[in-house]
Order: sequence, then structure tokens, then C-alpha cells
Amino acid sequence: ALRVGFVGWRGMVGSVLMGRMREENDFAGIDPVFFSTSQVGEAGPDVGKDIPLLQDATDIEALKGLDVVLTCQGGDYTNEVYPKLRAAGWNGYWIDAASALRMNDDAVIVLDPVNRPLIDQALNNGVKNFVGGNCTNSILLMGVGALFREGLVEWVSSMTYQAASGGGANHMRELLKGMGVIHDSVQQELATPSSAILDIDRKVAQTIRDEVPREYFGAPLAGGLIPWIDSQLDNGQSREEWKGQAEVNKILGTDPVIPVDGLCVRIGAMRCHSLALTMKLKRDLPLEEIEQIIRSGNDWVKFVPNQRDLTARELTPAAITGSLEIGVGRVRKLNMGPEYLSAFVIGDQLLWGAAEPLRRMLRILQG
Ligand code: HSE
Repeated sequence: ALRVGFVGWRGMVGSVLMGRMREENDFAGIDPVFFSTSQVGEAGPDVGKDIPLLQDATDIEALKGLDVVLTCQGGDYTNEVYPKLRAAGWNGYWIDAASALRMNDDAVIVLDPVNRPLIDQALNNGVKNFVGGNCTNSILLMGVGALFREGLVEWVSSMTYQAASGGGANHMRELLKGMGVIHDSVQQELATPSSAILDIDRKVAQTIRDEVPREYFGAPLAGGLIPWIDSQLDNGQSREEWKGQAEVNKILGTDPVIPVDGLCVRIGAMRCHSLALTMKLKRDLPLEEIEQIIRSGNDWVKFVPNQRDLTARELTPAAITGSLEIGVGRVRKLNMGPEYLSAFVIGDQLLWGAAEPLRRMLRILQG
């Protein structure tokens, strides 16, 4: 059995990964070793079998004994430990949730329902680094990857609605605290049906400006949105927006590059990222054929017919959160012309957006 070291398994993405691996009985087929940066020597998690005590995640000698390192510890850890481990002659597989190595030539972005042939080819060629994609890009391709597979996509404009979880656990807490602060500020008025809504609104606006916490997001998110995610690049894109074209094309191995661009917006959802897509197709295909192609993408596509009631019931964070389904709907031709297609894609940012591709890569390594 492969000796697999887990780093960062206690954080949010790591915990989702652990949960999914328990559900799928993934630990049965491997020898897991759990690492820690702060609790070395303590007992590891319950994975249904005996495991060694927690080892030091920065101990290169300990890591060298592994066949696989799977890390959800973040980019700083990768940047610190990965080069040292390789320099020490380690030739194992590095599976990473962080973006640090993602765009390196010797790394493949893993999303096997979409790019399994590329993964297999990389394994044959001796590639050892397998990195999870940015959550919006993984969700985009899990949703409408089949249109790319059929070579139908000339370009995509991707406008995102990204949940608090993309920032991390503290960001989710900050969103909820903000919601509470807003509600508290008008609790009495809300309980009084005769109170004037514009008075309530005035108080709420003041509360959002002055009192909603913003330590992690840098701006009040509850009751609002933030049209910028991650750092600023010189070309006017946010880093999150830059990742769209770079990663989608790397995942697909496309040449020439398919343009992907749009604005990334943080909204007050908990863990579902959504994307409103405009796609220019290379051909004018009948809508039914387009729908069939999208449905054929993979087992997790949940195609929602473009009807109001179904959309409101099935294509929302409330419907999708905690599930592996990727909702795809609002598919219709746009006024711009018969090759212009809209689609709304929604997925759980912590599942397909983060943990799921990594556990599946581990399965692929087991053969
Ligand atoms: N950068 C993403 C976000 C999450 O902030 O929503 C990581 O893929």
C-alpha cells in the first residue's frame, strides 16, 4: 500500500477531505501518516485503523519516507517544504490544494472527470506533482467542460459570485457575524409591522458602513458584495480573474489558448461558488443538442431546464451546498446572435472546488 502523508488535514479544506475519504473508505487502501506543524507527538484522527502519532510536517527526513504527500496546509508550507524535500532527493508524488506549484511546467492541475487523459499521460511521462485547480475554474469545467471537450468554445466570459468559504473559515465567521450585527440593529423595528421600511433601511445602511466587521474581507460583505478577489495585477485584472484563462487552458491542455475572462465578485453565500457565463460557440447548434452535450459531461452535472420554478428551487446555494452535484442551468441563446450562449453554473467550493479532485488523484495513484 502507498504510504501517504497528510499535511493540513485539520483546516477547513483538509477536514472536508478527511470527511470525503472516510465516506469513500479511501483509508482502507493506503498507509496514512498524519503530520502537524503544532501538535507533533499527539494522536492523529480516527480513520478506522491504527496510525502512528502525529509527525513533524517540516521534518524532511520523515517526509522522505513517504510515497505521497497530500497537503492542504497552504502555499507558504508548500513554498517552504517542497523545494527542500525535492533537494533531499525525494521522488514521491506531491498532491497539493494550494496554488504555489499549480502553473509550473512539471505540475498537472487535477480534475479527472475533465482531464483524465492528461493526468494519465503525465503519469506515464513521470510527472510527480498534481495540484488542485482554483475552485471557480474546477466548477466551471465540471459544469460545461463537455462544450470544451467537443471543441465548441471560442471564448468564455465568466462573471463569478464567490462564497465566503473561498477566503477561509474566518471569512465565513465574519460573514455570519455581519449578518447578526445588521439584524440586531433593527430587531425592534422588524418586530413592529408598522415601522417604516425606509427608516429601517437608513439604520441598516449606517450599520453596514460603520459596524459590520471587515477584518478578513477588508470591506463589509454581509448585506453587500465585494467586486474584487485576491491581489491586483498590473493589467487591471484581479489575480482570481487572471487564473481563469491560465488554469482552464492548462487543465484542458488547449493550444491555441481559449480566451477566458470576466469579473470575480465576492458575495454573501457560505460555500457555493456560482458563475454566470457568456460563451461564444464556434457553431450555431440547436439548443437541445447543446443541452445534451452539457449533460454528457460527467456524472455530477445536474442540468436544470431553463424554467423559473425549477431554477429557483434547484440552482441555488441552498440546493447545492454540501453536495457533489454541479448545477448547470439558465442555458439559452443570447440576443447577440445564435452562437452566443448563456449558462449559470453552481458548485460547492469545498468539494469539487477543493477536496474532491485531490482524493480522486490519490485513488488514481493506487491504480
Ligand atoms: N480563491 C478562491 C476564492 C478560493 O477566494 O474564492 C480558492 O480556490
